[in-house]
Amino acid sequence: MKTKDIMLSAIQPTSYPHLGNYLGAVKNWVKLQDQYRSYCFIVDLHAITVPQTPENLSLNTLNAAAFNLAAGLNPKEVTLFIQSHVKEHAELAWILNCFTYFGELGRMTQFKDKSSKSGENIGAGLFTYPILMASDILLYDTKIVPVGEDQRQHVELTRNIATRFNHRFEKEIFIIPEPRIQGSGARIMDLQDPTSKMSKSAQNDKGVVFMNDSAKEMEKKIKGAVTDSGSEIVYTPDKPGIKNLIDIQVAITQKSIQEIVDHYQGKMYGHLKVDTAKLVMEEAMPIQEKAGQLLKDKDTLIDILHDGAERARNHARETLDRVYSTIGFVPGKGR
Ligand code: TYM
Repeated sequence: MKTKDIMLSAIQPTSYPHLGNYLGAVKNWVKLQDQYRSYCFIVDLHAITVPQTPENLSLNTLNAAAFNLAAGLNPKEVTLFIQSHVKEHAELAWILNCFTYFGELGRMTQFKDKSSKSGENIGAGLFTYPILMASDILLYDTKIVPVGEDQRQHVELTRNIATRFNHRFEKEIFIIPEPRIQGSGARIMDLQDPTSKMSKSAQNDKGVVFMNDSAKEMEKKIKGAVTDSGSEIVYTPDKPGIKNLIDIQVAITQKSIQEIVDHYQGKMYGHLKVDTAKLVMEEAMPIQEKAGQLLKDKDTLIDILHDGAERARNHARETLDRVYSTIGFVPGKGR
């Protein structure tokens, strides 16, 4: 029997997950979990590339784990863990630092965006961040990486680093991963500025639906979404506000874009907003309730994460030992 391919993805605990994280990533992990052997984790090492308070970091880490479980990840099927619990991520990152070019990192659009907002003192971790992400992926012989569109460039870089390493040692040490970017949810835009992606670091919270917002807040944000001139509901790039609301509906209902556009023929923007708000609330509220229950029993949640880390570590260690011996490091005691 052919063993299942490996799927891997991760989320940063820099705030509570938002609608873009859910529709662009988490919902797809849940959908794909039966088809693959899966690793999902909370990337606390990535989160500290920008300043975090200790209280928020630990709170957001557990919140993200509870959210993923509440959204439907099954911890018996999926290895769910916290990145810093598996030290092999940081170890492989150093190795891959030595196989990545400065110029490649400078071309990363996310680095350019974030560093332009960071003032004068830009941490080196923000620059080398994609190498840690490559390590995350390559440690587990990953085939499929389900992410939103904004992460495509990082997965492409991972492919380049892995290919370079394999060529350098003339062996297939790393599997070359593929990004899996799903249609309509892949780039959910900010409700106040539909030309920018919905982001945890947005200046204005009104454009970002957090998955722990109250139903009232969600409704207010979606009804207050900036829409475009005109009144016809069509799916075109010159109507980014309307297109975004349609994308949200498609990602939730799994209907086709055409079906949704046809439904709104002759109706007004207000109808689209009211219905979108209702769909988002119906999707989010049961997840919120479940996440709340999981957080009440922190010991069980932490047990799940520790168990996941142990399973992840076994796989990661095997890969790292293979890499060390390929490079020519003398084996340490017990290895
Ligand atoms: P992060 O934490 O920014 O986002 C988590 C996931 O949500 C997706 N996403 C979006 N999708 C659609 N519309 C949006 N507006 C939107 N905003 C975010 C992201 O594409 C992502 O899939 N570097 C990653 C975390 C990471 C990772 C990994 C991912 C670290 N190691 C290994 C995959 C594999 C990040 O910052 O995601």
